[in-house]
Amino acid sequence: MTVTIVGAQLGDEGKGGIVDVLAERADIVVRYQGGDNAGHTVVVGGDTYKLSLVPSGVIRGTVGVIGNGCVVNPETLFDELDTLRDRGLDPELYISGRAHVIMPYHRVLDRAEESLKADDDIAVGTTGRGIGPTYEDKMARRGIRIAELLYPDELRTRLEYVVDYKQRLADALYDGTDQPSAFDVDQLFETYAGYGDRLREEEMVIDAGPYLARRAAAGDQLLYEGAQGTTLDIDHGNYPYTTSSNPTAGYAATGSGVGPGVIADGEIIGVIKAYLSRVGEGPLPTELEGDLADEIRDRGGEYGTVTGRPRRIGWLDLPMLRDATRASGFTGLALNHLDVLAGLDEVQIAVAYELDGEERMTVPSTTQAWAACEPVYRTFDGWPDADWDSVAETGIEVLPDAALAYATFIASELDVPLAAVGVGPDRAQTLVLDHPFDD
Ligand code: IMP
Ligand code: MG
Repeated sequence: MTVTIVGAQLGDEGKGGIVDVLAERADIVVRYQGGDNAGHTVVVGGDTYKLSLVPSGVIRGTVGVIGNGCVVNPETLFDELDTLRDRGLDPELYISGRAHVIMPYHRVLDRAEESLKADDDIAVGTTGRGIGPTYEDKMARRGIRIAELLYPDELRTRLEYVVDYKQRLADALYDGTDQPSAFDVDQLFETYAGYGDRLREEEMVIDAGPYLARRAAAGDQLLYEGAQGTTLDIDHGNYPYTTSSNPTAGYAATGSGVGPGVIADGEIIGVIKAYLSRVGEGPLPTELEGDLADEIRDRGGEYGTVTGRPRRIGWLDLPMLRDATRASGFTGLALNHLDVLAGLDEVQIAVAYELDGEERMTVPSTTQAWAACEPVYRTFDGWPDADWDSVAETGIEVLPDAALAYATFIASELDVPLAAVGVGPDRAQTLVLDHPFDD
């Protein structure tokens, strides 16, 4: 069977930790969208692993697959692999030949467009990893796929066309570039054909769809690891303050090459953080300011894994979670970071919005309308700090009463059962209430 993990909010919900815990019963962990804009953290017995491309399950020793829906920076890929090997792990990692390659000019153009937009105050606040420009080239049918790195003649032909195109774009829109090497065909060819050699030597490139379908049919357990979150989804999120891919569960099929039934027959777990964080621009109706935001940010370590930026903080937003539950069809919830809110006198949840004098239970489809929404809050008692290790060891029944009431309220509002609760970053601090994989 399959289990699909999807971020229910704005990324950084703690998906890496949940994937790591559930991977105990998985054979393969699959990434289906995004690239090295993701920052997934796994903590095992105090050792921290930060991954942005390699699927989080490899820390457990599962096979990792990077699906066709991903965009791949080979430099990050090999850096992460080398770092894991230096730490004594030897991941078995495959990558779809259909995944698209992030090139240096994509990163340059990502940042150039962000600074152009900043002049008009409409920057997205991207991670600068070239994600958007790479997906743009994929859709415009001028992208370069991983498999093409293995065929130097093909690679050269592709580069001749696309680099000239990008250079002209950079010249016309951004007065050229201060990184000429990112537009140098010979240099790009040499570097990327070199990555192709290494991919071939390590036998990493596969046709992932048939591989995954075969393994699923043979009874293997597949864990799909979504990156980013539903409100960053290019279709279902807060456009244009989104990423350029679809984190929602439907894309697990398209982005990996199995039929939607394979995903739908399994479990789909929405990962929720007990409050909100956002890196990058765009509205956030429940945003907090001042000391309270600083306190939560510091307790939760809410600084970007990829960019180090301080994250904006807000109260939990149920309209957002209702949309996420619908768009991905969650069958279970994982609620993280309950420990971070401990010690507050009271905590709030936006249970609805008020917009133009009317009550709304879901997020409106335009950024303008969402920015105009006033949260309707429900106040909950806070809970004291606890010995979270012992909570994790003993079970949900020893959660502070108010924390349990908060968690139970969320699950009942969404009408989806809790599958796991996280009370700390370590593997041992995630309580699995109902394991989505069969034994
Ligand atoms: P991009 O994905 O780099 O194009 O960035 C687009 C938006 O998504 C920005 O607001 C980023 O901060 C946000 N974003 C992208 N990846 C992540 C992530 O893994 N966690 C949180 N936010 C992300
Ligand atoms: Mg992250």
